[in-house]
Formats: sequence, C-alpha cells, structure tokens
Amino acid sequence: MTRKACVIGWPISHSRSPIIHGYWLKRYGIEGSYERLPVKPEDLSGFLARLRGNGFVGCNVTLPHKEAAFRVVRTADAATKKLGVVNTVFERDGELWGTSTDGEGFIASLRNDLPDWQVKGRTVVILGAGGATRAIVGALVDEGAERILIANRTHARAEELQRDFGPRIEPRDWTEAPRLLGAADLLVNTTSLGMTAQPPLDIDLAHLPASAVVTDIVYTPLETDLLKRAKARGNPTVPGLGMLLHQAVRGFELWFGTRPQVTPELYDLVAADIDPGYRR
Ligand code: ATR
Repeated sequence: MTRKACVIGWPISHSRSPIIHGYWLKRYGIEGSYERLPVKPEDLSGFLARLRGNGFVGCNVTLPHKEAAFRVVRTADAATKKLGVVNTVFERDGELWGTSTDGEGFIASLRNDLPDWQVKGRTVVILGAGGATRAIVGALVDEGAERILIANRTHARAEELQRDFGPRIEPRDWTEAPRLLGAADLLVNTTSLGMTAQPPLDIDLAHLPASAVVTDIVYTPLETDLLKRAKARGNPTVPGLGMLLHQAVRGFELWFGTRPQVTPELYDLVAADIDPGYRR
C-alpha cells in the first residue's frame, strides 16, 4: 500500500519538506508520497477531519496552522502540551495525534555537528522570543541547561517564557545582548534578523568567549552574517539548516516506519535548493 503524507500551510510554496521526505522515501525504497498542500486557515479543521479519509497517514503543519492544529488533535507528549503547537500530525488507532519536533530537531542538529558538546550545565544566550523560540527553550530546559538568558526587543515575550518554563529562564533587555554574550556557552539567534530580505543582526560579538558555540535558526542564507562573523573569530558554529532536517526525522518515522538518517547528501540537496551556488 502506498502511504501518503503531506505538508500543509498558507502559503506553502516555500516549504522544503517535500525535498527532505522525497529523498528519504527514495533512499529507503518506501512506496509512499509526500506532497505540499495549500490549506486556508478557515479550512484547517475540515482538512484534518478528512485527513485519513483522503488516504493520508499524517502531515506536517506549518505557518499559520501550528496552534490551530494543536487544538484539533490529541497531544502526543507532555513537552508538546507545554508548547501549545504541533508541527507533526499522525494517525494511531483511528485517531489523530500531534507532536512538536522542533525542539528535538534543534538538539539533534547541535549533537550531529558537535558530538562532544553537551547542553547540560551550560549558560545559553537566546536572541529573540518569537514562535520559534518556545520549542528551543523547552528542549534546552529538558536537556539540563543551567541558565537561559533571553534578550528580546519586546520584553514581555521573554517574561512569558520565564512564566512557562521556570526560573532557569532570565528575561533581559534587547539592548543588553552584547554584554550578556560574556556569559554564553551557547548563543542562539531565534529572531528573523539576518534572514534574506530582513534587516541585519548587528550585534557586537566582542564579549563572546572563543569557545562559545553559535547557532542561528535562520537558514536563508545558509550561512548568516552572524555565523560568518562567529566562524571568523574562531567560534564553533552550527548552521540553521540542520534543525530543519533533523525536525523532519520523527515525522518520517511515524508515517513510514523507518527512522531516517540526516546524511551529508541530504544536507547538500536542500542547501543547493536554497542557494544554487552552494558548494560544500
Ligand atoms: P514568530 O513569533 O512567528 O516566530 P516574529 O513575531 O516575527 O515571529 O518573531 C521573531 C523574533 O524576531 C521576535 O523575537 C522578534 O522580536 P519581538 O518579539 O520584539 O517582535 C524578533 N525581531 C523581529 N524584528 C526585529 C528587529 N527589527 N529588532 C529586534 N528583534 C526583532
């Protein structure tokens, strides 16, 4: 039987998930498909209600549906319950379940690129407190990060993260960010700054210790200015594309029954789609 999965969003044309799942279906010789489907916000609950009837074993859910989908499906785990969003929907025993795989994607990407580096006991500085930050904060707390300093332009959003994830989270002013870097073992940009067609992320890295790991959730461009500058001063860096690839692993496993590998070949395939001039 051919198993069908898809990614839904509005708009959806930019999604690279079909490349990722298409690569794995071929690599593992699985009879299946993964398509991109535009679904309007007002059609979301109807679409999910008909998902199995339409022959799908599940789907990825992207903007703007992550919260609405959370309300429709059964929540598969406690970490997802806390996030209030799902990005992966799957069918079990006649019911639809949802989970969020962004946090594990973030951690797996770090582990993949820096196998000897541990989050446990570390101080993390996070720039930004938007939608993408929540899953990362949840995963860092679960992994045993000691302190998570969050600098956000809108202070209230960082405070909300502290309310939801506890005293390890320390909300800080956006203007304080350059100074906070002095304490960082890990620096994570979760703002949209530095993304193609967005303003740059002008942050002075002078205080950042040379051993601090620097990562960015932005993956267009593949190497952001932040990553370039960090690399130039000798900091280990982890590009954002890894998180996108690793967050896809569990969905594929849930739908198609094989836990897939994020290979250098897959990285190159998606990187070349983002930047045709990309060379490893
Ligand atoms: P979402 O919540 O959907 O992830 P978002 O609201 O665009 O997306 O949030 C992205 C992050 O980038 C936020 O932390 C945002 O800061 P605010 O919470 O203050 O909006 C941050 N961000 C976007 N543009 C920024 C800018 N010009 N300067 C500083 N931070 C910015």
